[in-house]
Amino acid sequence: MGLMDEIELRLLPEDDRKPVPKPENLGFGIHFTDHMFVMDYEEEKGWYDPRIVPYGNFSLDPAAVCLHYGQAIFEGLKAHRGEDGKIRLFRPYENMKRLNRSAHRMCMPSVDEEFLLNAIKQLVKVEERWVPANKGTSLYIRPFMIATEAYLGVRPAKKYILSVILCPVGAYYSEGFNPVKIFVTDKYVRAAKGGVGEAKTAGNYAASLMASEEAKAKGFTQVLWLDAKERRYVEEVGTMNIFFAFEDEIVTPALSGSILPGITRDSVLRLGKKWGLNMVERPITIDEVIEGAQSGALTECFGTGTAAVISPVGSLHYKGIDYVINNGVTGPLSKRLFDEITGLQYGEIEDALGWIE
Ligand code: COI
Repeated sequence: MGLMDEIELRLLPEDDRKPVPKPENLGFGIHFTDHMFVMDYEEEKGWYDPRIVPYGNFSLDPAAVCLHYGQAIFEGLKAHRGEDGKIRLFRPYENMKRLNRSAHRMCMPSVDEEFLLNAIKQLVKVEERWVPANKGTSLYIRPFMIATEAYLGVRPAKKYILSVILCPVGAYYSEGFNPVKIFVTDKYVRAAKGGVGEAKTAGNYAASLMASEEAKAKGFTQVLWLDAKERRYVEEVGTMNIFFAFEDEIVTPALSGSILPGITRDSVLRLGKKWGLNMVERPITIDEVIEGAQSGALTECFGTGTAAVISPVGSLHYKGIDYVINNGVTGPLSKRLFDEITGLQYGEIEDALGWIE
């Protein structure tokens, strides 16, 4: 589809638009705005009929492939309103590129990255009044693609919908920026090498639910995932990437095929390197982490993701024992990274790396 293709605007009359929620009532992923972006795909036609329309239900054939065989991918990015009233997107091209990598892995069609980003910008402009102004709040942008062809044979579908919905959000975890308690699971795995763990596909999140529900029932916020083969190497935490700060290096598991290549993960690696820190991507075992927590060599641990940005880990529960990290409080590196990334997002820090759109 050409960049010049017009996006049709079918907007609600002003009187039919919803009141925007109060900043203190935002939560995460609860409130949706008045409009959404949608376009269709057919194998013979490519992408067509891009439009911004009132938010509402899709009409899907009960045999739609996404409902049966999980051909469904998504992205997550945020628009922030600074004190100057300006709305900024954080590294949105990275999301466009990852969407296409996920699409490729799931045998789904690619999209023109420039066109989709332009559509997102237009949608955010239409929904400008939904972008909250308070620090810690933002407009979460959820692009997603689903297979809509009615067909029960197992092969890639020939018809898709790509849509973008928006929701004003506050903190992802109820803990906010306070440390979370993590349960290390050696019973369940999130993804295996050769599987779809590095694609942002719906099934990965479905596969994670039982482990996180069991952990929550035991009083933990999320789980730490280990590798599928040996249950020895650390992979991710909940829906986020994980970092471990030792005295002489800051380690995150190397992308192995089963780890989602997080954009916040990449931002943390780049910022740390810029600050002269020894940022290392390598395999790291749970034994090394536990030993570090016991000896104090592990000074901080934190998750990274678009939704929570930086989520400090206060303790790890492994094989029946709680290991407290940094006395269960937020450490200086977590705080510095959180302040830097959110400072860039809200336009309080100069965008020297060209990350803001
Ligand atoms: C993130 O942004 O950290 C996530 O992947 C969470 C999202 C699935 C709500």
